[in-house]
Amino acid sequence: MTSDSAVPASSLNTPSLVSPILIPSASTPPTATPLKLGVMASGSGSNFEAIAQAIADQTLQAQIQVLICNNPGAKALERAERSGIPAVLLDHRTFATREDLDRQIAHTLKQHGVEWVIMAGWMRRVTQVLIDAFPDQMLNIHPSLLPSFPGIRAVEQALSAGVKLTGCTVHYVHLEVDSGPIIMQAAVPILAEDTPTTLQARIQVQEHRIFPPAIALAAAQKAGVAPTTFFNAAV
Ligand code: GRF
Repeated sequence: MTSDSAVPASSLNTPSLVSPILIPSASTPPTATPLKLGVMASGSGSNFEAIAQAIADQTLQAQIQVLICNNPGAKALERAERSGIPAVLLDHRTFATREDLDRQIAHTLKQHGVEWVIMAGWMRRVTQVLIDAFPDQMLNIHPSLLPSFPGIRAVEQALSAGVKLTGCTVHYVHLEVDSGPIIMQAAVPILAEDTPTTLQARIQVQEHRIFPPAIALAAAQKAGVAPTTFFNAAV
């Protein structure tokens, strides 16, 4: 979960070793059919909003067909309502098994015409049922430089390990948690005075920066075209 309002913006301007993003500045007008995204979020939804903003800014050639959320009262649901994006609440507590939940998620995503599934802070393990419904078209974001620190509390794990550099990773979803092939990463230095809250806030700045172009890059690779077909700005 995130605490996206706890840290003053000025403290986010610390040195950062952000990875270069391999998408050139493009003056080419968008030519692609917009990607049809379904976003899955459990909590705050700041990544969901960053993706929606990139679409509104016309940097990411996509549309969000639906937000799926598993927690009533999650801020992600409010963000969807504010943006006029359809949202469906599928409370995991009302399903007997993980597979039952995933069957309903897959059905809902298909009903809304989704092609790419974007796990943006989805705090449930997914099963093969969902992965098989969207082969090679499910992405996740994780707050560490995978393969380091998979699983929960990745920010705390990095702090406890004493590493000097952490970051975030966008990767394909495979059955094993946080394990699929990596699409894009950004590095964030750990400062002596960092707490989980300050470090997570700086990681989230980078998450919001790389998630939209990572979606575009994955789609471009799948379509065998240049990334600029789907992402139209330097970042
Ligand atoms: C992010 O830090 C993401 O890496 C992790 O969950 C968090 C979700 O944040 N998987 P938000 O809900 O997008 O604000």
